[in-house]
Order: sequence, then C-alpha cells, then structure tokens
Amino acid sequence: MENYTYEQYRESAEALRARLGSFAPKVLLILGSGLGALGDQVEDPIVVPYAEVPHMKRSTAPDHKGQFVFGRLSGKDVAVMQGRLHTYEGWSFADVSYPVRVLRLLGAETLIVTNAAGAVNREFDVGDIMLITDHIKLFGVSPLCGPNIDEFGPRFPDISHVYTPVLREAARKAAENLDIRLREGVYMYFPGPQYETPAEVRLARTLGADAVGMSTVPEAITAAHCGMRVLGFTLCTNMAAGVLDQPLSGEEVIAAGQAAGPKFTALVKACLEQIDP
Ligand code: HPA
Repeated sequence: MENYTYEQYRESAEALRARLGSFAPKVLLILGSGLGALGDQVEDPIVVPYAEVPHMKRSTAPDHKGQFVFGRLSGKDVAVMQGRLHTYEGWSFADVSYPVRVLRLLGAETLIVTNAAGAVNREFDVGDIMLITDHIKLFGVSPLCGPNIDEFGPRFPDISHVYTPVLREAARKAAENLDIRLREGVYMYFPGPQYETPAEVRLARTLGADAVGMSTVPEAITAAHCGMRVLGFTLCTNMAAGVLDQPLSGEEVIAAGQAAGPKFTALVKACLEQIDP
C-alpha cells in the first residue's frame, strides 16, 4: 500500500492553486454513478482532469468522467468531482481519499458525497434517497493506515459523528421544502466489484445497515479525520441482492441513477443553499 507524504498532498494542492488563481473552494462534492450531471451546472467552471493533478489516480468506472469542476453552484464556491475512485478499481483507500486531503489544503471545509447503493431496508423503494446517518466498514484497512500525518488530524480520531448533525438537519429541511421523501439510515461498505450475496445482505441487515454500496466510506473517514463536515446521500438504485427474486445489473443501477438525477440534483443544490460558506 502506498502511503502519501504531506509534501505530495501539498504538491497536488499547489498545482491546483496555480490553475485556480484566487478561487478557493469551500465545499467538495463527490458524485456517484449517474449523478455527475451536477458538475455541468457549475457557473464559471474551471475543469481540471485528474490526470493533470500530480500523484492523483484516475477513475476507470463506467459513467465516471474523471475530472474536477471548480466554480459557483447555488451561491457557493465548490469543487465537484465528476467521477470518483473506487477500491474495486485496484486503488488503495489512501488513493481513493487522496483528493479529500488535497481539497482540505485548498481550504475546503465541507464534503458532500453521494453514491448509488442497494437498499437493504425492505421499507425503502428503488429511487429513494437516503440521508446517511452513519456507516459500517468492516472490510479492508482504513484510509488512515500508515504513518499519521499530524497536520491533517490525530492518530486515533473520534468518528462518532462523521455525518455532521447540523448538515443532516439542513438536508431534512431542504427535502421537506422540495417535497422529496428523504429516507435515513446506515450505509454499509462492501468492497465489490461483485454485488453482495443474499446472505451478505441478510448479514448487513442484521448488523443494522439500511443500504450497501462500494464507495463513500473512505472519503468520509478521511474528511472527518481532517476536520471537515460531511453530508452523505445514497440513491437506492436497486433492492439489494435477495430482497427481490431478480438478478442485479450495472445497467439497472445507471438507469436508476439517471432517472432520479433531477430530484437528486435539486436536493443537493438546496442543501448547498442551506449550509453556511
Ligand atoms: N450493492 C453494492 N453497490 C451497489 C449496489 C448494490 O446492490 N447498487 C448500486 N451500487
């Protein structure tokens, strides 16, 4: 596993700063499958492909563009990641969460992260949006493994409140104003790329999970470690394996992401309006 040095994060931040001039993003948005369209709505965009950021790995997942879009969205200075990195692509947890620390060095204080996931909670429906209240990660090492970089945060961070309560409250208000039914629950990380077995989904349910997916948790832990506020949303693109008697497919996930895209986009923009800086 590659451990990045503080110097490497700084080099990446400096490279971006050279592209951004005086623009300083306050909010980092990491958008999941089928939800990247929000990046196209950024005003006065400055687009930087990940390939042009020193040390940063590239996303190879379908439907993920692999670029930052910097600019204004809902009156906030944002950095949108169109396409994220996943561990199932072969990247380490540190690779996947690398951009979070880079953006932290650029002054970002808030992470908004979205994903597509399978609904474990039988009361949920396909197309539902779930506000993430907490997560479960039992698989793989932590993105914080390796020498601790004290400049980012402590060796043993408290992560009792990864998903910031005031932001969750803002999300509830935003959903109410938009008349969107917002589910709430626990997201459980699975490494993928295979979907879960029905037995794994039963296990997840027994442990208290409401949705299962292959992303988000590395970035959220890294953000919490370096003192960022985190808001996370899951789009339930399918019922998790075994809930219904039908096979899962990547096409179904992307189609559900696209179908819910406008609703999801409206919600994230309304949240941006609600939160300070
Ligand atoms: N499991 C894991 N990840 C997913 C799923 C799922 O059912 N649907 C979309 N991403």
